[in-house]
Amino acid sequence: MKKPKPAPSDLTPEQIYQHLDRYVIGQQKAKRTLAVAAYGHIKRISSPALLKSGIVKKSNVLLIGPTGCGKTYLARHLAEILELPFAIADATEYTEAGYYGKDVEVMAGELLQRAGGNVELAQMGIIFIDEIDKVARKGESGRTGAGGRDIGGEGVQQSLLRMLEGQKLYVPQDVTQHWNKHDFVLMDTTNILFICAGTFSDLRTEKIPGASGFTSKGAAQKSKHKKIATEDLARHGMIPELLGRLPVVVQMEELSSDEMLLVLKEPPDSLVRQYGEMMSADGIGLAFADDALREIVTAAEKRKVGARGLRGLMEEVMHDHLFNAPDLRGTTLEITAAYVKERLAHGE
Ligand SMILES: Nc1ncnc2c1ncn2[C@@H]1O[C@H](COP(=O)(O)OP(=O)(O)OP(=O)(O)O)[C@@H](O)[C@H]1O
Ligand SMILES: [Mg+2]
Repeated sequence: MKKPKPAPSDLTPEQIYQHLDRYVIGQQKAKRTLAVAAYGHIKRISSPALLKSGIVKKSNVLLIGPTGCGKTYLARHLAEILELPFAIADATEYTEAGYYGKDVEVMAGELLQRAGGNVELAQMGIIFIDEIDKVARKGESGRTGAGGRDIGGEGVQQSLLRMLEGQKLYVPQDVTQHWNKHDFVLMDTTNILFICAGTFSDLRTEKIPGASGFTSKGAAQKSKHKKIATEDLARHGMIPELLGRLPVVVQMEELSSDEMLLVLKEPPDSLVRQYGEMMSADGIGLAFADDALREIVTAAEKRKVGARGLRGLMEEVMHDHLFNAPDLRGTTLEITAAYVKERLAHGE
């Protein structure tokens, strides 16, 4: 007997989660939720019966979390494992149709491009909309230009809403160049999965004072964040209709010091590994003392940009060694806490 045709992807939620977990430190809830959402999406689009009945609605996701906690990073690694077209869009680049900036149709156009121009495939894809909080509706006071029209805020949200609701859109076939009228194709967005992300920084409460720093037993550091409710998001300036189309909301946490340390060391593309590889290409060994890495984390925390601050600091710490690399062949560099302190004091 012939085997049934395999689904576009046989990934289980567990497999998707495991892949995300290799790269993304902490953020268990977000990793699990995205694994479930992606799995559900794959199941829906591979079952004509499910699609036709329309009973199982898609569950678009909204990720909320502080800067540098891994929102965009998570999306990139999700895209990597799913064998589906996946487009990442930055909401801030879009404006209401007719104004200078991209129309939301371009988002669908990017997805079409990822699908190699195959409309049917693109219609099953995923669009990740980053920085969604930046298109909040502006209050009366915040209005600028365009005769008081809110072209980058509410205007974009209204356009996004239409796309999220499932619409047939005329989508540019080639987003890389200026197009003319007949380069458009009709695309149905009904079954596209949308994942949105934003910091909504004005809605987050400060961490409790004294709660920062490394924990003695490596346990997760406690930080208290207010649970953000839909009303809060509406107060931030998101239109309720759009929020209604994002039923799955995940709140991500600021990374603890221990997690930041793991970010430096653990992922396959971690900074420690990257610099190790770079040095070893010059025939140089590189070893970081644990307390040296902790110094880097402490310095990163002062910058308040989450894990994003780590790369710049690492660059500062390694600068001289990188410069002198050709003369260091055959040696092994031991990076100590004292060295990190000295290097970083230098930069200030
Ligand atoms: N949880 C994490 N695990 C591993 N690496 C992380 C994590 N969070 C952040 N990073 C590292 O920090 C970098 C910046 O993170 P990312 O771009 O995902 O932040 P973000 O949450 O999207 O912030 P923003 O709201 O400012 O866009 C990533 O490229 C990655 O190297
Ligand atoms: Mg981001």
